[in-house]
Amino acid sequence: MSSVVLMWCRSKQENVIGIGADIPWNEPEDKKNFIDVVANQTMVMGRKTYESMEQKNIENQKIYVMSFDKKYEVCNPCLHKVISSQKELKDEEDDLYIAGGSYIYELFLKGKESLKPQIIVDCVYEGEIMNLDGEKITIDNCMGVIEKAYRRISLFYKKGNVTSSVWVKKGEFVEQSVLKRIIRILENGAEVF
Ligand SMILES: NC(=O)c1ccc[n+]([C@@H]2O[C@H](COP(=O)([O-])OP(=O)(O)OC[C@H]3O[C@@H](n4cnc5c(N)ncnc54)[C@H](OP(=O)(O)O)[C@@H]3O)[C@@H](O)[C@H]2O)c1
Repeated sequence: MSSVVLMWCRSKQENVIGIGADIPWNEPEDKKNFIDVVANQTMVMGRKTYESMEQKNIENQKIYVMSFDKKYEVCNPCLHKVISSQKELKDEEDDLYIAGGSYIYELFLKGKESLKPQIIVDCVYEGEIMNLDGEKITIDNCMGVIEKAYRRISLFYKKGNVTSSVWVKKGEFVEQSVLKRIIRILENGAEVF
């Protein structure tokens, strides 16, 4: 296993990442950041997030879809594999990009397996939150882990209403080429401070 990178976009207030199946804001530059960071990488996501993704953004990506239903049907069986436990990733040699949602973020940040992300890409949205139907999904319960176990190593990169920064796990080796690639994407066209 190489690097484990976790990336999210949360609202500044309440740490919301979704309402129902949707992200309650539309920030094209943040979407582009996400697509560029995960391009040609191996992703891990929960079944609900998988179903919420636009097909064109995921069909050619290698993805581990987490579901307790081992018979869950993915849209591209050549590249997408259903897993029901983190243990199934232990021999994976690719870098892993953890793409949500709340259950999967919590599992990777607080779970027992030794698959803790070395790198977190923390994108924070500061605009209006759309009034959508559905349950508000937050990552409040993950924030304590970050404050305790991670430190920010980048500047802040602002595009539209989203400000991103990169955090690394204290005391762990972090692959510099992975960090540099992510920071290059975040800083491209951003206001930096
Ligand atoms: N803003 C962001 O950065 C961001 C990123 C990603 C997602 N989102 C949003 O987040 C929402 C979806 O997140 P969510 O938290 O509701 O769901 P989720 O984490 O995407 O998926 C939950 C599902 O994952 C499976 N699962 C959970 N824990 C598991 C475990 N330990 N082992 C195996 N499988 C497990 C279960 O699937 P089964 O029910 O099939 O068993 C569960 O129903 C959507 O609104 C989406 O748009 C936002």
